Amino acid sequence: MKAMILGADGYLGWALSLRLLSRGHEVIGVDNFATRKSVKEVGSDSGIPILSMENRVRAVRDVHGYRMKFHRGDITSYPFIHKAIKEDMPDTVIHFAEQRSAPYSMINAKHAAYTLSNNVIGTINLVYSIMAVNPKIHILKMGTLGEYGTPNFDIPETPFVDARINGKLDRITCPKWAGSWYHWSKVHDTNNLLFTNRVWKTTVTDIMQGPVYGTRTKEITDEKLHTRFDFDEVWGTVVNRFCVEAALDLPLTAYGKGGQTRGYLSLEDSVEALRLLLENPPEKGDYRVVNQFVELLSINEIAEIVKKAAKRLGIDAKVEHLENPRVEAERHYYNPEIKVLPKLGFHRKLKMGDLAGQLIKDILPYRSRIRRYKGAIMPHTNWRKVDNAR
Ligand SMILES: NC(=O)c1ccc[n+]([C@@H]2O[C@H](COP(=O)([O-])OP(=O)(O)OC[C@H]3O[C@@H](n4cnc5c(N)ncnc54)[C@H](O)[C@@H]3O)[C@@H](O)[C@H]2O)c1
Repeated sequence: MKAMILGADGYLGWALSLRLLSRGHEVIGVDNFATRKSVKEVGSDSGIPILSMENRVRAVRDVHGYRMKFHRGDITSYPFIHKAIKEDMPDTVIHFAEQRSAPYSMINAKHAAYTLSNNVIGTINLVYSIMAVNPKIHILKMGTLGEYGTPNFDIPETPFVDARINGKLDRITCPKWAGSWYHWSKVHDTNNLLFTNRVWKTTVTDIMQGPVYGTRTKEITDEKLHTRFDFDEVWGTVVNRFCVEAALDLPLTAYGKGGQTRGYLSLEDSVEALRLLLENPPEKGDYRVVNQFVELLSINEIAEIVKKAAKRLGIDAKVEHLENPRVEAERHYYNPEIKVLPKLGFHRKLKMGDLAGQLIKDILPYRSRIRRYKGAIMPHTNWRKVDNAR
């Protein structure tokens, strides 16, 4: 398979590039390095150092003997993404190239507008480029389970559901109720992609993924191959942040009552699920929705898991409940379906309880580096306040 990965410099994009290369696929990376820049903007950096893309491509060749091509550019430029797709003629385009932080999108008008335009325009340019070059290209688009919010129904793996409205039955797009501008940008993407499937029969896998955690995959065997690892309040997902807090002897900062429940998965499980979906694409012209997670856990359960793992390493981690900077339900029903991935043979490898200790151990050598950005860990971004100074 010839796979083009938009967002190849990112947390998932880099790890997936290595997985696909190790399977003998051809990989063409695309990135504009927006995440590197935006993480610096909030006074932070990848907790685990990463090489420049030029050196990453060299390291992949030196360590594993794989060759990877890379285009530097912004997919919100139609001429750029069209040219890249025309030049390389991929079978599949994996679309990760979006602003992916909910807090970043909630800072103020500038950040909200950037998130919405970057994400929605990038996706539109991708579809138009594919239609111009080869409409049969499979688009694997990374959405998020956060598109649905926390509904009182079991989240289906179908784009449409039956609904009775004013007494009449109809088939409508599954209701979504996102919790940040970032998550709304993903809802808009889903609607736009569904529309392209209706009018042009595009072939799409739309993944609704939960938060990912961890530092390792099978291919990350050398420190030159590390993927980025964010831990600050804006860019760090909760598990990675808790593990950093434990490693730094800081309290684990649980927002609100801690009953917020989501579907989590490790980096290894995420790239393996993606590999399966790419190697088993939908029929041409189909729109496939996939819920991608391994375990449903609440913030309080995650804090307990990290606390126990830290204890086994001689660290006495405490949990501190902070006023919730987000607007979200803190006790709620949550049950996304998971049928597509198991049918393709996906079985989770490890649970968070098995991995948290390793994650903390992986962070320990970088404690002094991470301490430089300690000020970026406590929440500053508040859903209820607009911060025009940032
Ligand atoms: N990490 C998670 O827990 C998680 C969970 C659910 C969904 N996702 C989604 O998966 C995707 C990848 O996430 P990630 O954690 O690897 O994020 P990331 O920020 O590490 O990677 C995204 C990459 O896309 C690049 N990018 C952004 N806008 C671009 C543009 N206009 N042109 C070219 N490149 C651009 C960034 O520079 C970055 O390298 C995102 O779409 C994210 O919303 C991530």
